Formats: sequence, C-alpha cells, structure tokens
Amino acid sequence: FQKRKDIFKMVNVAILGYGTVGNGTAQVLTGNLENLEKRLGQRINIKYILDLREFPDDPLGDRVIHDFKIIENDPDVSIVAEMLGGAHPAYDFSAAALRAGKSVVTSNKEVVEKFGDELLRLAEENHVRYRFEASVGGGIPVISPLMHSIVTSNKVTEINAILNGTTNYILSRMGKENIDYETALKDAQKLGYAEANPSADVDGFDACRKICILAAIAFGKLIPMEKVKTRGIRDITPEHIKSAERNGSRIRLIGRAVLLDSGKIHLEVAPYAVKNENPLSGVDDVFNAILIHGNYSDDIMLYGKGAGKFPTASAVVSDIADIIARGNSFAPDEALNFNRAPEAYEEKLPEKLIKETAAVLGNPVFES
Ligand code: HSE
Repeated sequence: FQKRKDIFKMVNVAILGYGTVGNGTAQVLTGNLENLEKRLGQRINIKYILDLREFPDDPLGDRVIHDFKIIENDPDVSIVAEMLGGAHPAYDFSAAALRAGKSVVTSNKEVVEKFGDELLRLAEENHVRYRFEASVGGGIPVISPLMHSIVTSNKVTEINAILNGTTNYILSRMGKENIDYETALKDAQKLGYAEANPSADVDGFDACRKICILAAIAFGKLIPMEKVKTRGIRDITPEHIKSAERNGSRIRLIGRAVLLDSGKIHLEVAPYAVKNENPLSGVDDVFNAILIHGNYSDDIMLYGKGAGKFPTASAVVSDIADIIARGNSFAPDEALNFNRAPEAYEEKLPEKLIKETAAVLGNPVFES
C-alpha cells in the first residue's frame, strides 16, 4: 500500500545532453510516466535539459538550459541523468552533482571506466547514488543483476561477452548478406548504434571499456583499459568469415574476463571464431549477450539490444526508477566492488585455459 504523502512528492530530474540517448530518455520518461508514477508512488518531472543547442520545436524545448550551475544550485533537483558522452565535462558535472547531494545515473562508459571508482566514493560520502546500468549492454539489465544478485551468491570466475552492437551488426551482416564492411558500418551509423568516432567501436575500445566495468563488479578490481590487450574487427575479411563458417563457427568480437587461480585477472577483447554450439555464436545484429559463469549458478546468459536510442534509454530510466523506489541513499554493495587495481592484470592465459577456451568458445581469429 502506498502512503498518501508519498503520492504527492515530486522528483525533479535533470537531463545532461539531449543527443540520441538523452532525447530517448526524455521520451521514455514521458511516454511511460503514468506507469512509472503509479509504480513508484511519486510524481516525476523533467525540470532541466542541459545542452549547447536550442530545441525550439521539441515538446520539452522550454526546459533547455545551457548553464550547469543552475542544476547544481537547484535543491529541488534530486536526480541528474548524464548522457553527454566523452570524459569531460561529463565527469566534472557528475562529480559536482554528487557533491551537491544529487544522485547521478549515466550511460557514459568512458566516465565509468575512467572515474567510476572515484564517483562511487563521492556518492558514498555524499549519501547519494551513482548508477550506470546503460553503460554496458544497452537495454540489457546486466550491471544490476551482476552487482546485486550474481556476485552476492556466487564467485564469478569467467565472463565471455558480445558487448558492442555496431561490430556485431557489421559482422552478422557481412556473414549473412555478403556485404562489405564499409556499407555495414554506414548502416550501423544511420541506425544510431555507432559511436561518434567509429574507431571506438571497430577497434574494440568500446567493448574493452565495457568488459573492464563488468570485471570490476565481478572481481572487485578495476583494470584500466589501457592495460588490456584489445583487437577490433578492422582486419576481418570475407575470407575469414567464410573460413569460420566452413569450420562450424561464426566470427564475433568477444570481451573476456577470467579470474585466474593466482587471483590475477585476464582481460582481452578480440575477434573469435565462436563455435556454433556456443550460445554467443547465435547473437546477431545489434544484439549483445553476456555469458557469466558463477561457481554455484553455472552459466547465466543475459541477452538483448546492446545499442540504440530506446533500449539504452530504457536502462537509464531503470536506474532513475531504482533511485526513486529504493531511495537516494547509498547502497553499500554498489561501491564495494570497484577498486582500481592495474597490478592485478595478467595478459597471458595459462595453457590449460587456452585449451579449455578453444573447446568451449572457439579460437581467436588472429594469433597473438
Ligand atoms: N557504440 C556502442 C555500440 C553503443 O555499438 O555498442 C552502445 O554502447
């Protein structure tokens, strides 16, 4: 039963960045408002939209402002949704919002990978929350289940994942339709999947950021992406694709995180010829999938749209709803597992694990 006093409470949200995901978030919040308010027992209002541009024809055009200080200094804003992209000023605004006692949600994987440990600490100190469901796997709920369910009941030992929608779209279209790489990339850009600079997608850096974030939650150690051996799909040719097919596999860009017996962590991003028996090989187009091995749960696979306006926006809104439902106050299990530990990185996989990987997942397309 809802308490009557809660029904009339108003939660004011500020959106930072009115690009694809920012606009999607505003649309999901408004389109789903009745359902959200009914479930959460509170009113939700988008009070500000911060962007450099004006949007005179947008239904929320009157909320657009250009000065972040207005948001920072407005005590009525309790949640800031950061969808600016890029490290700065996204990090600076997020830190300022947390210091001002506002919870922050983000889709910005660059900020989470670079500053997530610091921002989570700031959230803890200021008794607010920093949430980043949309930073990995687009519309797939993965951060929350991993953080709140899987790691609490299991020791996670391995994650194998398709974490970039653009490259998966390119690889599956190259495989199915025999089209070339450039055409597939252009289509991915048109559909709003690709990063502003497609190198982040095709050279594997976007997938690398995401596997670093997942590994930080799973193993409690945040390995900076600069350490991680990363190879993208630029050099994949139609011949590679055909040869994989002949051998009963499909090429997929895989992010891997393995907890070694030594306690060190092996991370890598590389194209693998994934065996058709492995569920990751059937993941097509913009879909992502994260296969997590827990010592009690065994394999868990989370699957869904890894990029795109509305899937990503739905993840942002799920974080906003979680804060409204469970409170602005910091939950201890949200930061305990996010400690920067570059020294924990191990580039080489032991021979035994290379053999196991070949049997279960497949082989990397390129020799290392
Ligand atoms: N460019 C990213 C992708 C967007 O293609 O997966 C989602 O993070």
